[in-house]
Order: sequence, then C-alpha cells, then structure tokens
Amino acid sequence: ENNGRLIIVAYRLPFKIIRENDQVQLFQNSGGLVSAVLSLVANKNGPAFNSSEKIQWIGFSENSREELEGQSLANESFQAHPVFISDEVNENYYEGFCNNLIWPLCHYFPSLARFDDAYFEAYQTANQLFFEKLDEVIRPGDVVWVQDYQLMLLPDMIRQKYPDNKTGFFFHIPFPSYELFRLLPVAWRKALVNGMLGADVLGFHTNDYVEYFLKSARLVSGLGNKLHYINMSNRIVKVDAFPISIDFAKFNDAFDDPAVVTARDEARHSLKEKIIFSVDRLDYSKGIIHRLKGFERFLERYPEWHEKVSFVMVVVPSRDSIEQYQQMKSDIDQTVGRINSDFGNIYWQPIIYQYRSMPNHELVGMYTASDVALITPVRDGMNLVCKEYVASRKDRKGVLILSEMAGAAAELGEALIINPLDKQDIADAIHKAFEMPEEEQTKRMDAMRERIRNYDVFAWTNDFFTQMTMLEHEHEKLK
Ligand code: UDP
Ligand code: G6P
Repeated sequence: ENNGRLIIVAYRLPFKIIRENDQVQLFQNSGGLVSAVLSLVANKNGPAFNSSEKIQWIGFSENSREELEGQSLANESFQAHPVFISDEVNENYYEGFCNNLIWPLCHYFPSLARFDDAYFEAYQTANQLFFEKLDEVIRPGDVVWVQDYQLMLLPDMIRQKYPDNKTGFFFHIPFPSYELFRLLPVAWRKALVNGMLGADVLGFHTNDYVEYFLKSARLVSGLGNKLHYINMSNRIVKVDAFPISIDFAKFNDAFDDPAVVTARDEARHSLKEKIIFSVDRLDYSKGIIHRLKGFERFLERYPEWHEKVSFVMVVVPSRDSIEQYQQMKSDIDQTVGRINSDFGNIYWQPIIYQYRSMPNHELVGMYTASDVALITPVRDGMNLVCKEYVASRKDRKGVLILSEMAGAAAELGEALIINPLDKQDIADAIHKAFEMPEEEQTKRMDAMRERIRNYDVFAWTNDFFTQMTMLEHEHEKLK
C-alpha cells in the first residue's frame, strides 16, 4: 500500500563499476546484503514499498566523478547514487574512524583502537556527504534503510530534515559491552548513540547486542526503555534483534549444479581423505592465526591423522591499505609455512592456503566436499559462512565446528562449539568430528538446516520491515 520507494544507504554500492573505453560495466556483488535486499523485492507477501520501482542505493564511489559522468548506473534491480569522497577524507573516515577505531573496539580489540580527532571530523564529514546525496534522491513516502557502522550518524540527520520518512538502521557488527563502548570520548559516544536513535527501528543480530546497546543508550544519553521501546518524547524507537540469514534455497539447490558437482569431485579427487575447509576475509577478528595453531595442536596430538587430512584455508583479501591487515597477512604466511614444513612431506601438504576470492561454484564445491567446516572467529557479528555451509549440505553430512564468539552460535547449537582461543579445544573438536558417525552428523545437520530454512534471509528482511510498519500501532498501545 505504500507507494514510496526503498532507499538503501550503505558504504558499499551493490555493484563494482568498471569503466572500459567510454562505457561502464556493472558487476553485481553476491554479498549478504545485496541478496537480502533482493529478497525483499521477491517477497510474495508484498513489500512495504513500491517494488515496481528500482531500489535506490546510495554508496561510496570507488570511481572518480569524471569517470562516471553521464553514465547510467542502474541494472535491473538497482539504481545507484554514488557518493564521492576525497582521498584525504576517506582515509580518515574509512581507514581511520571506521576501521582503526570502531571495528577493533566493537570486536573487542581495544589495544588496536586509535583515537584521532581527525578521524571523527572525517566521520562527520562523510556521513554528511551521504546525507547530501540522500537529500537529492529522497521523496515523500520513501522508506530509508541505513546499514552498518560506517553510517551511525546518518539516521538522525535524516530525522532532522525528513521526520515523516520511515527510517531503519541495521548494525551488522557486534555492539560491544558498555565497558568497551565507554572507551570512546564522551562527545563521540553521545553523537553515535543519538545518531543511531534517529531511526524508527534499530536492528542488531543478537539479544546480547540489543542489551548492550540499550545499556549504552541509558548511560550515555539517559534514555530508558520499556520492552525495547525507547520513548523519545515525540516518537518511539524500537530496538530489536534480527539475526541476518542467507538464501537457504539457493545454497541447497547449488548442491546439484553441474559446476558445483565438478568442483566437488575435483576437490575430493585431489585432496586427502579428510578435508577441513575455512574461508574468511583477511581480518584479525576471524581468528585465523588461532585456527592455524589449533590445527597444529591437532597434528601434534593426533598423529594417526597425518597424511590423511587436507586443511584448505581460503583467505579473501580485504582492507589491505590498513597496516594491521598487512601485518596479519605476513603472520599467516609465516605460520602456514612453518606448520607445513614441520609436519608435511613431499607427498603431503597439511595446509593448502589461498589468498584470493572464490567464484561461487568453487565455494559451494568446497562447502560440499569437506568433512569439516572450521569457523573460529574471535568475534563476529553473525558469520554467514557457517550458515552457507549448513545450507549447502543437501546430503545432510559434514560437521560444523563453530566459535562461541560468532553471533551465529546463538542459533546453531548443534555445531561443535569451541572457544577459538583454546587450541586444545579446536584440536579435540577436529578429532571428534572425524570420528563422528554419519547418523550423528545428519541429526545435527538436520536440526540446523531446519532452523535456517525457516529463518532465511527472506524472513529476516520481512521481519525488519514488519516492525517498521507495525510501529504506529505499537506506539498507540504504549500510550
Ligand atoms: N564470500 C565472498 N567471496 C569469497 C568467498 C566468500 O564474498 O571469495 C562471501 C561468503 O559467501 C559470505 C561472505 O563473503 O557470504 C562473508 O560473510 P560473513 O558474514 O561470514 O563475514 P564478513 O566478511 O561479513 O565479516
Ligand atoms: C563486514 C561489514 C561490512 C563491510 C564488509 C567488507 O561485513 O559489516 O559493512 O562492507 O565487512 O568490508 P569492507 O571494508 O571491504 O567494506
């Protein structure tokens, strides 16, 4: 019934723009957010906005203004509106405030957090640039959905000028306990909390993150809540948990895709009899070094598996302009090299390490070829890789080893849950997984698959938008 359009505001655009000669080519991302947003349009119940119009998407442009001049930046689903940010501002904004401060703080690495006034200034400037772009695009009735920690100030900017447009905000990373959040300078804490509270609905992945946010809102801005509703005198904000999910059917069906079958056969043919697989972006939050040490401990304590196991570890390049990430890359290179030379021989390489991104058929090929998915982040807002692994296993086999520090652990209790800092725990879990009877694998898989099938990404977006549309009724009830 709403004739407004959907406007997404996120740091990343939904496609990569490559300029060749006089034309631009658009390569749509296959990431979680893009499929989530697409699922809204496909929603049979009818979305909370006019789905005959393209989704308007505001995001940072990696291309210069000149490169994009006069080009159409739309594909069949999205109309992109690029935000141009100078290198200087972007460095202090993206590398600085976002990834040298907020990211480490929210992932419980306070020692990596850097505090710099220029960072916060750039963060304000950049949020303002996103707002100016939105200001050009927005019309009455449009629904705005702001994404993630790069844009925490934006919801309130929208509220000030467009109080009548429904605005949602989703925070995709962990919201930390107050003891971490309070490390921020007082003025910054206030600005961030108030910025987020400009939204009508404020979403996090888990109940813990919701509780932590509510506590920060109380201590930073003196705002109490009643059953997750914060009363802002003239309006109400709903704060709630919406665990993001994946397109279950897509991963499940991919099992039989000929390209996936070929990739799976190739992996099984060329690797040892037991296959362990992991894939993540290069990031200290992913626990990659601890995972390697856990695998090393496994090789030390369970020599009966020597020459019988291949650990395929794919690391996707990410944020390589930031010093911490470059350092980590060389730590991984060294650790992999050391373990392979300590344990391997000319017939057997324990760790097969790739630093690159994977095409989808190869990814699902590896998900479905492996006996174990080893997912050990030291902190992760949700972690979609583990859900994709489970959804891909149409054969109902395979064992998921999952860190208790991933948001997903709250939903996937049938995994072998480990403490990612405890090498012995990881080593024992691998051994247990290798010995696990197939019936038990299937029993655990079935339970997890059922849960993700029932709460897939369609349910996630639907839930979020239902909350946005229900808000007025709820408001009445609270009066
Ligand atoms: N992925 C990717 N490129 C690859 C391999 C994987 O984009 O080469 C995808 C993967 O399928 C998953 C996402 O990246 O959907 C990672 O999401 P997750 O929540 O696990 O971690 P994040 O990178 O968001 O911290
Ligand atoms: C996480 C964040 C996203 C971010 C993505 C990739 O998933 O929640 O906001 O876009 O990582 O990181 P990048 O720095 O390349 O955007």
